[in-house]
Amino acid sequence: MASFGETGLLVARDEDPNLIDEFRRLKNPVLQNAFGRLSAPGANIVMVCSALSGDGKTFSVANLAYALSLERDLSVVMLDLDNARGSLTAAMGLQGAPGFFDAIQDPDAAGLDDVIVRTEFDRLSVIPTGTKTSDTLELLNSRTARDAITGLANAKAGTLVLMDTPPVLSMPDGSAIMELAGQVLVVVAAGQTSEGDVQKVLNTLDKEKPVGLVLNKAPRSRWLDYYGGDYYASTYY
Ligand SMILES: Nc1ncnc2c1ncn2[C@@H]1O[C@H](COP(=O)(O)OP(=O)(O)OP(=O)(O)O)[C@@H](O)[C@H]1O
Ligand SMILES: [Mg+2]
Repeated sequence: MASFGETGLLVARDEDPNLIDEFRRLKNPVLQNAFGRLSAPGANIVMVCSALSGDGKTFSVANLAYALSLERDLSVVMLDLDNARGSLTAAMGLQGAPGFFDAIQDPDAAGLDDVIVRTEFDRLSVIPTGTKTSDTLELLNSRTARDAITGLANAKAGTLVLMDTPPVLSMPDGSAIMELAGQVLVVVAAGQTSEGDVQKVLNTLDKEKPVGLVLNKAPRSRWLDYYGGDYYASTYY
């Protein structure tokens, strides 16, 4: 079993009612996109991305996953696709454990059942990134990766997969992960991510898929606002 331990990644569990409320608010549009009446197939596979390192992708995955796992009918899986950094894997104490990139090296692999790890919270599990490898892009492009993630998302009704990813602007993996996702959350660090970089990230997105923006690190009253799916018609920055 994996635990968030003392890493500080999971703030929502601590006595911080504002933060847990922000993440609980953030989860509802994600849930609607994934399971609502108008949901598209695959929208329960969610990519969490951002322009650069340090914007708060891993932080958002951990806290949002926790908030989602409070839902009685859900089964939430955090999937660490940031193989270079592996911060989520490390935060859960799973360095060195076999993970996603090990499982999909073998095209005959049965799936991800062997590498999924339960956490201290009911309904929340994690798939560590696994052994460091230089060909993450090609592995993510493979049919094995697609089948494994789709299989995971469809294995049980009410499964939601949250994918932690490397920075879109410094790694090519983002476009491959985008193909695997049915819903995208873009983390924007207030006062840190430049408008130009936000635009560059938005330009890489598949406009057919629901997209939400997470404003992270904003002053307290606006911490982690969700700007809704239809950002193309609104001002977001
Ligand atoms: N809203 C927040 N409140 C408190 N700490 C935060 C917040 N957002 C991020 N952090 C902290 O800032 C640091 C960077 O965040 P995080 O690791 O999530 O960024 P990242 O986008 O995943 O970066 P990388 O691309 O390098 O993996 C971490 O120590 C994280 O715990
Ligand atoms: Mg990260």
